[in-house]
Amino acid sequence: LYPKDLSGKKIMVSAGPTREAIDPVRYISNRSSGKMGYEIARAAEYRGAEVTLVSGPVSLASPLGVDRLSVTSVGEMAETIFSRLDDVDAVIKVAAVADYRPRTRAEHKIKKKSDDMTLELDKNIDILKELGKRKTRQVLVGFAAETQSLAENARKKIEAKNLDMIVGNLVGDPASGFGTDTNIVTFFHPDGRKEPFESMGKDVVAHELLNRVSGLLKERL
Ligand code: PMT
Repeated sequence: LYPKDLSGKKIMVSAGPTREAIDPVRYISNRSSGKMGYEIARAAEYRGAEVTLVSGPVSLASPLGVDRLSVTSVGEMAETIFSRLDDVDAVIKVAAVADYRPRTRAEHKIKKKSDDMTLELDKNIDILKELGKRKTRQVLVGFAAETQSLAENARKKIEAKNLDMIVGNLVGDPASGFGTDTNIVTFFHPDGRKEPFESMGKDVVAHELLNRVSGLLKERL
């Protein structure tokens, strides 16, 4: 049995990858399966929260009792999240968001011509950074996926994006990161504290994270 410590709270979780179209048949994306974010959404619902799950394209079933909103591009994800920000108490941003998108989306399938081709990209909005500027009462949690210098990069992100906490995970390890059922995470806090964990199931990571979020929400009462 789970504690109902999040009852009466509204939590928005974003999960999965984004897709940026190149032409009608191709896109730029990443390896996020959505598992980490879906486990957080499921765990928050178990603990009594009203959960909105803003999800990129994944092949997971929607957790029971969670309001899932499906999006594809970064623009759509941003719009969906910003339009609901005022209504929620916490945002947990697990989605793996594309930093760049193709400058143009070809109307028809691009045909093979010369031996090489160049794809021009434009920078996408950083949704989490924007949330850090717009937040009022909300607890804001980010994730940092890194292949090296995890602590240094996570610390930079917690400050640059005005977060209440960031979950760092090394990606590229067979027991951690994209697509796996387990994750090796470290929680970083704005006061400099860090909490490293051994490999845990993503469901267990979800509950550990929600213990911290629940504590932060209580502090704000
Ligand atoms: O989905 P799984 O297969 O279970 O894999 C889980 C995971 C590895 C995707 C997850 O644990 C994780 O690390 N998610 C964050 C991935 C990511 O985009 O990290 P980042 O370091 O590039 O971004 C930092 C933070 O800023 C993230 O919270 C991200 O959602 C956010 N961001 C990034 C870029 C952008 N343009 N907008 C954003 O909001």
